[in-house]
Amino acid sequence: MLAYVEDLKKHVGQEVTLRGWLYNKRVKGKIAFLMIRDGSGLVQCVAVKNEIGDAAFALCDHVPQESSLEVVGVVRADDRSPGGVEVGLKSIKVVTESAPNYPIQIQDVAPEVGFLMQNRHLWLRSRKQSALLRVRAEVVRSIREFFDSRGYICVDSPVLTPAACEGTSTLFPVDYFDDKAFLTQSGQLYAEAAAMAMGRVYCFGPTFRAEKSKTRKHLTEFWMVEPEVAFMELDGLMELAEQFVSHLVSRCLERRKEELKVLERDVAKLEKVLPPFHRLHYNDAVKKVNAEGVAMPWGDDFGAPQEEAVAKGYDRPVMVHRYPAEIKAFYMQPDPVDPKHALCVDVIAPDGYGELIGGSQRIHDYALLEKRLNDHKLPREAFEWYLDLRKYGSVPHSGFGLGVERTVAWIAGTEHIRECIPFPRMLHKIYP
Ligand code: 4AD
Ligand code: MG
Repeated sequence: MLAYVEDLKKHVGQEVTLRGWLYNKRVKGKIAFLMIRDGSGLVQCVAVKNEIGDAAFALCDHVPQESSLEVVGVVRADDRSPGGVEVGLKSIKVVTESAPNYPIQIQDVAPEVGFLMQNRHLWLRSRKQSALLRVRAEVVRSIREFFDSRGYICVDSPVLTPAACEGTSTLFPVDYFDDKAFLTQSGQLYAEAAAMAMGRVYCFGPTFRAEKSKTRKHLTEFWMVEPEVAFMELDGLMELAEQFVSHLVSRCLERRKEELKVLERDVAKLEKVLPPFHRLHYNDAVKKVNAEGVAMPWGDDFGAPQEEAVAKGYDRPVMVHRYPAEIKAFYMQPDPVDPKHALCVDVIAPDGYGELIGGSQRIHDYALLEKRLNDHKLPREAFEWYLDLRKYGSVPHSGFGLGVERTVAWIAGTEHIRECIPFPRMLHKIYP
């Protein structure tokens, strides 16, 4: 019977066929221990010379790491193995013998990340990397599940756009026949149009920023989910954000326990991530950062040290709201209490993982939006349709964007977000 490693527990005592790759191997006299991975998991298969026969044992002894294999054996319960089982081999067939010089040797001291990234197409096979991508897949599934089960309609925003959404300094231009277009920085503006049609919507896809920064939190291509809700104001948006983030964490805890163990994540910390999150007015956030001994003049944005300082002492993400309008995007609604501030919120993760979410209430007044476009020197022609939304039945509305890779990095406890996307794109990095 053909089986996947992840299902072997259900087949104790039975004979199964496994198809996969040789992850690692140890031969001790007349016993060979083959670690076989099949994409669903990793299992130890044991070949005993006088049971499997001389020829098959010689094959086990010789076959190099990463060769593809088909093996037949009997599943045995084994408490010491990670999956609770091992397989006693009866036969082995090599599908394709790997070249002997597989670049990422298991036994070696960990190679440099630069080398691993250059071999990303192979590095994906390693245990931690595939565990990370499984956590990512869970985050993606849980994102859709959260919104789909709450009456939100998924709308797909275009990748090719005529205009900037998040500032003109990080645009990727592309030739568009006789014209110029840009890779999208955010689907927000289109989601706003869709929210006026369907009330509660979200868009979810790749977004692009020509970021020249080389931090561990910036990619040039990343995935973002952006809910947008008609009639919602900033308070409602903050509630949505804390429920959403908590949902993603709890789903990963529930369904990706094994992967989080492989990643050595301290899950006790994640278990505390429940609503409500702490809320801090920007002014108080600045005070807190300075009190923590990190300099931050009023009016500045948070850099990495400031993000770490503001999150300090909280056991869950913190929501900083009402930043100075001046350092935020053109579309944000001013705070009626003090219009120097915008009705916006950033959700900042604990332990230095940084900003997971940026969002705001949007300007719904035609004249004010027109003024903001002017102030930001944005070309009116490209935004005529966006202004239309304020002309025909405008309502207060709000939305946010959550970056998938930063969320995965935090949940998985991974230092650099480049490992949280299968093939990262960064400054000077587009291969493989
Ligand atoms: O704060 P940002 O720039 O907000 C927007 O794009 C809004 N239009 C979203 C909205 O309101 N619909 O980006 C949102 C999130 C950030 O909090 C971060 O998680 C992620 O997107 N992000 C990046 N992730 C990786 N690399 C980058 N260069 C990122 N820039 C933003
Ligand atoms: Mg932001």
